[in-house]
Amino acid sequence: MKINHSNIKKAKKFLDNEECVAVPTETVYGLAANAYSDIATKKIFQLKKRPRNNPLIVHYSNLNDLKKDCLINKEFLKLYKKFCPGPLTFILPLKKKSKISKNVTNNKKNLAVRFPKHKIMRALLKKVNYPLAAPSANLSTRVSAVNPNDVKDDFGEKIKYILNGGPSSIGVESTIIDIVKNPKILRLGGLKISEIQKTLKKRIRIENNPKKISAPGQYKLHYSPGIPIKLDVKKANNNQAFLLIKKQKDDQPNYYYLTKTRNLNEAARNLYSTLRQIKKDKFKYIVVQKIPSIGLGKTINDRLLRASKF
Ligand code: TXA
Ligand code: MG
Repeated sequence: MKINHSNIKKAKKFLDNEECVAVPTETVYGLAANAYSDIATKKIFQLKKRPRNNPLIVHYSNLNDLKKDCLINKEFLKLYKKFCPGPLTFILPLKKKSKISKNVTNNKKNLAVRFPKHKIMRALLKKVNYPLAAPSANLSTRVSAVNPNDVKDDFGEKIKYILNGGPSSIGVESTIIDIVKNPKILRLGGLKISEIQKTLKKRIRIENNPKKISAPGQYKLHYSPGIPIKLDVKKANNNQAFLLIKKQKDDQPNYYYLTKTRNLNEAARNLYSTLRQIKKDKFKYIVVQKIPSIGLGKTINDRLLRASKF
């Protein structure tokens, strides 16, 4: 999708006026506001109906701007060089003199930061004079939005402006790594853990156990489409939506393909729109074909598991 500079100007105007704007990223759409403004960041929590103790990710266009707000370390630099801009979020220590609004971190000393790759988002970040705090642009407990229509479905007229960047190319949220001390993964996401391990040349702990919550996004209910889900199922009844990754011999109205060729990147890209569609089609139950736990399959299973336990 081409960059439309007048749309970027419009988005900037709302942001400069301390309003929230929906923005495209390669992972999912974000609900953005000036991360330095108390007024603007407060609006994010109100619009999303998000608990105030759930901190926000801040999006930067370059390393120099990040250094004004955060302390960095060797491991950060290794990962930054390899994967940024891209679907990776870092937890870093906040500098004492940082201008980040207290609303963003809920008064805590660490900040989640990301360098998105989507070219329209990057063009916007270059234009504004502040970093953008942006959680996923969905109502709290709904699945994330991956195109402008999802954002409209959740927020209707309440949102001032949606910057159109087409459908998100990755379709699941960024991977979160905490590198304040020993690196640990807090959320599986769009970047494979194996890639991170290869770059840091060591095994990284995954600490997304819901019993040890440090990111509220780890609550089981967080990604719920509001319908019970059962995983690793071979056959579905026709009143159950059947989520598939491999082409079936027959054709049924309750079949929903994430991919027909077991391409797990494609499956991740289609996951949230498919869950939203199933809900619109009024199915009361979802069953899922076995999805291999490799690459982005791990992230897909993580999201489905969270949605299935309630
Ligand atoms: O791909 C993404 O990461 C998208 C796009 C818009 O960038 N954003 C996103 O934001 O998924 P959100 O707010 O929906 O999820 C961010 C997660 C939340 O679970 C939050 O609790 C966690 O990151 N988080 C934020 N700040 C943190 C911090 N300082 N320490 C630990 N976890 C943090
Ligand atoms: Mg979210």
